[in-house]
Amino acid sequence: MTTAASAPNLDKGLANTIAAESQMSFIDGQAGILEYVGIHIDDLARNSSFEETVYLLWNLRLPTRDELAAFRKELAAEYDLPAGMWEFIRGLPKSAKPMHALRTMVSALALFDPEADDPSPEANHRKAVRLVAKTPTLIAAYDRHRKGKDFVKPDASKPIAESFLAMLNGQAPTEAMTRGMDICLILHADHGLNASTFAARVTISTLSDLYSAMTSAIGTLKGPLHGGANEGVMVMLKEIGSIDKVEPFVRAKLADKSKIMGFGHRVYKAYDPRATYLKTFAKQIASDTGNQKLYEMSYKIEQIMEAEVGPKGIHPNVDFYSATTYFSLGLDIDLFTPMFAMARMPGWLGHCLEQLSDNKLIRPRAEYVGPHNVDYVAIDKR
Ligand code: CMC
Repeated sequence: MTTAASAPNLDKGLANTIAAESQMSFIDGQAGILEYVGIHIDDLARNSSFEETVYLLWNLRLPTRDELAAFRKELAAEYDLPAGMWEFIRGLPKSAKPMHALRTMVSALALFDPEADDPSPEANHRKAVRLVAKTPTLIAAYDRHRKGKDFVKPDASKPIAESFLAMLNGQAPTEAMTRGMDICLILHADHGLNASTFAARVTISTLSDLYSAMTSAIGTLKGPLHGGANEGVMVMLKEIGSIDKVEPFVRAKLADKSKIMGFGHRVYKAYDPRATYLKTFAKQIASDTGNQKLYEMSYKIEQIMEAEVGPKGIHPNVDFYSATTYFSLGLDIDLFTPMFAMARMPGWLGHCLEQLSDNKLIRPRAEYVGPHNVDYVAIDKR
């Protein structure tokens, strides 16, 4: 038995613990670098597509033209949902928050998949494809259901970003909207051992199944310290309301030691490279869609934060400018975090497959800080 004296040091938040190996994304938090399989995120955002990025993360190399075409086909064949799943969505309460609905729907997909508990690499690959392909359909279907609109079926002839926007809005997106959505998906696809990815790896390390692991991950992403921050940013921008109110708002928050959503990161102490790209993109799309005010308010928040807490390594993270971007793309605020989940699904799945390829149960320990040698007191004597 391990004694307290020989136990490893307490590392709250596991900030100084390396708990897994991964070949997918590399983060240099001091230099502000993010690479997927060695390729700089900027390079991928400029040149790649979501489907190609998923292939890269799962195969650790870029596909040839034929391989990409075959992979797109494989995904598109899985966009649609089983008939029972459409019925299931019709039965969900319309008042539910989309993240609760998404967590429940991803879990429910397992009920319709005869391979749910087949742990073979082939079945796991098929389930991973299904999960990436069906998640956009689930999000769009639930959004239409809660708004009392008819479902729009996915279009297997279109890439994921385009099919998703068409299902959501009931009309074909512009090319710029599709490209914007695709870039957001690429930028969020993987990010080391973040909290939700860790949750997915913990779940799969018990040799549970991929649906359970994705359900854990979605529940973890939902929190405002993680993926929920993008919704928090938009709520904050709405609350501030106008550019002249930015300064008093931010200063009051800082004086109060409250956090400003969309700033700070456990790993990045330099500017988050995803935020660099999204900032430029948000400026453009906000101006194209008449949402300049959102960008200008965000920029002013950033300037004050840079002066006040920038030297402490607190800069905008991926969530800060993605709020303006998603809003300008016409998404409801409570769809921002489901969007993050849809984009991160390939990263979560890739990590689960990595975990399974060299599995060790993830089971850290807690340091007991309670009392010892306490007598049991009979209930009528307490
Ligand atoms: N606004 C103001 N001060 C901040 C912020 C912020 N957003 N973030 C960190 N700080 C301060 C914090 O108050 C603390 O100050 P002090 O040392 O004086 O007590 C110091 O910076 C360290 O903060 P921490 O919370 O102990 O650091 P952490 O590594 O545990 O937290 C974080 C990282 C992301 C949880 C935190 O920066 C935060 O809560 N940010 C706001 C929420 C957010 O935007 N989350 C999205 C993260 S990126 C996308 C993702 O991975 O999901």
